[in-house]
Amino acid sequence: SSDNRVRIVEVGPRDGLQNEKKAISLATKIELIERLAKTGLTTIEAGSFVAPKWVPQMANSSEIMEHILQQKIEAPVPITYSFLAPNTKGLQNAEALLKQNPGRFATQLDPDVTKPAVEVAVFAAATESFSQKNLNCDIKTSLDRFKAVIQDSKALGLRVRAYISVVLGCPFEGFDVDPHKVAEIATDLLESGADEISLGDTTGMGTAPRTSALLKCMSSAGIRTEDIAMHFHDTYGQALVNTAVSLEHGIRIFDSSVGGLGGCPYSPGATGNVATENMVYFMESLGMETGVDLDAMADIGAWITQELGKPNDSSVGKAVLGA
Ligand code: HMG
Ligand code: MG
Repeated sequence: SSDNRVRIVEVGPRDGLQNEKKAISLATKIELIERLAKTGLTTIEAGSFVAPKWVPQMANSSEIMEHILQQKIEAPVPITYSFLAPNTKGLQNAEALLKQNPGRFATQLDPDVTKPAVEVAVFAAATESFSQKNLNCDIKTSLDRFKAVIQDSKALGLRVRAYISVVLGCPFEGFDVDPHKVAEIATDLLESGADEISLGDTTGMGTAPRTSALLKCMSSAGIRTEDIAMHFHDTYGQALVNTAVSLEHGIRIFDSSVGGLGGCPYSPGATGNVATENMVYFMESLGMETGVDLDAMADIGAWITQELGKPNDSSVGKAVLGA
């Protein structure tokens, strides 16, 4: 049934790679996206139009978008490729590429499933300290900027996802994050036109009871479960526990990263996202449908972590491969 269907948002090519210190070649990034596209995923976060001074690793996101727009990536299902944009400048850089490639991508106005769809993602924070560190402005200013980015994106026919970071713990303000503040920011972003809110446990500090309290608060504020995605980093190993709690609250969209890659450069000490292999295995164990091929995902996790010279952080990936 449709209630059993879960959409996994693969954030490996963006969240997974953005914090890597060593420059990763464009060829490796593209190979990662091309391999992920074959697994049955329907949403892949592919890059980030942020200031290269702030996140150098994402500097070649234009080339990645161009490659996607060439429509050479083979995929068994239509895929939406998501790109972060923190301000109008970021969106304008994306828009310039889209304008150079008319008719090569699907939009909400022209939802052609034979073409890749492009989505824009903005990213707010639930605390003032994190907003300053990550965006160099306060929350109010960021929401005003995002309103412009969201409205301009929608005018181009692009779907918009809006993150809120540090919803269950902040590296600078600790556990003391007000769920009402999260709901207030989410309401603002939805009113500005965002199609989906992704709640980021950036630091992995979330626990089952506080995840539950946050989702109750969102629901009391009138935010629909179908508009919410959960984005768990697994720093404390609680990501799947918090995923189970979220499922019970009716959430059906989950972000994860192949090989458990990931981390935010402006969140000291935070580690990777929950591994996609672990997420898929967990969903399958519950009889939920992800449409994602676990064996193929495990192979990609082993390959990309080796490529980056890192240990494979997916326990399921290693078990599946007998490694
Ligand atoms: P700022 O320094 O205040 O920006 O940074 P500015 O407007 O003063 O511009 C400074 C320079 O950057 C100028 O260049 C601009 O042109 C350039 P200069 O004149 O000095 O040569 N610039 C840009 N270049 C390219 N693309 C742009 C852009 N904007 C300005 N879009 C800014 C403000 C928002 C730009 C900066 O703070 C920034 O880029 N922040 C992004 C940080 C980031 O990417 N963090 C990681 C992603 S969020 C995350 O990981 C969390 C998430 O996973 C969820 C979770 O886990 O919670 C999503
Ligand atoms: Mg993240």
